[in-house]
Amino acid sequence: MPHLAVSGVHANYGALEVLHGISFDVDRGGIVSLVGPSGSGKSTVLRTLVGLTRATRGTVEIDGDVIDYRSARAIRAARDRMAIVFQQYNLFQNMTVLRNCTLAPVKIKRRPRSEVEAEARDLLALVGLADKADAYPDELSGGQQQRVAIARALALRPDILLLDEVTSALDPELVGEVLDTIRRLSDEGMTMLLVSHEMGFVREVSNAVVFMDAGRVVETGSPAQIFDAPRSDRARDFFGKVLRH
Ligand SMILES: Nc1ncnc2c1ncn2[C@@H]1O[C@H](COP(=O)(O)OP(=O)(O)O)[C@@H](O)[C@H]1O
Ligand SMILES: [Mg+2]
Repeated sequence: MPHLAVSGVHANYGALEVLHGISFDVDRGGIVSLVGPSGSGKSTVLRTLVGLTRATRGTVEIDGDVIDYRSARAIRAARDRMAIVFQQYNLFQNMTVLRNCTLAPVKIKRRPRSEVEAEARDLLALVGLADKADAYPDELSGGQQQRVAIARALALRPDILLLDEVTSALDPELVGEVLDTIRRLSDEGMTMLLVSHEMGFVREVSNAVVFMDAGRVVETGSPAQIFDAPRSDRARDFFGKVLRH
C-alpha cells in the first residue's frame, strides 16, 4: 500500500477547474517530484493535499485511510501528517530561530516546551544550523532562513514533507545548501513530495517524477525515463527547453 495515494483529484479556484483528475502515489521514505510548466497545477496539488484548496472530486489516502476534506477535524489531522514549506518562508521576524520552530508545537499542539525545544535543537542541527538557535531571522541568509522554515515544518513531526519550490527565491549560491538539507532528510528516510525547477537535483533524488501540464498528469516514471525518454510530445518539448539551460 502506498504511503500517500492521490486518485483522480479535481480542484477549482472559484468556478474555474484547474486540476482535472490528478493521480500518483508516494511510497514511504520515497521522494516523488512534480515537474511541469508554470501554471500546470503543481502548487495546487500540494495545497489540495493539506486542505488549503478544496478537492471537488477524487480521493487522497494516507496509509489507506481516505481523508474527508469536508471535515475540519480531518483537515487538521491531514495537516498533522503533511507539512508544507513554501518558496516564501515567512518566518516570524521578531522571534528567535528556536522560537520560530517551537511556537506551533507548544501553542497549538500543547506539547511540553522542554521536549519541543530539545527536538527543535536536533532539527536545527539536522539542517546545519545548530549554532543559530538564538539568532533572529534577519541575521541569517535566505538559504539559512529557508532551512529554518524546513526545521519548523519538521518540528510538527509530519509523516510527509511537501516542498514547493523552496529554492526559487534564493540567490544561486544559496541554493546548494538547501538542496543538501533535502538530501540529508532523504537519507534520514523522510517521505517527500517535491516541486522544484532544479532538474539535476530532481533527477538525482527522486524515486519517481510526475510530469504535469494544464492540470493533468501527462506522464509518470523514473527520473531516467522521464528525462531521457519522455513518451509525450509535451514532456519532450518541456525538457528540451529546461534542460538546455
Ligand atoms: N488563488 C488562485 N485563484 C485563481 N486561480 C489560481 C490561483 N492560484 C493558482 N491559480 C491558477 O491555477 C492554475 C494552477 O496554478 P498553480 O497550481 O499555481 O501552478 P504551478 O504551481 O504549477 O505554477 C493556474 O492556471 C493558475 O493561474
Ligand atoms: Mg507553483
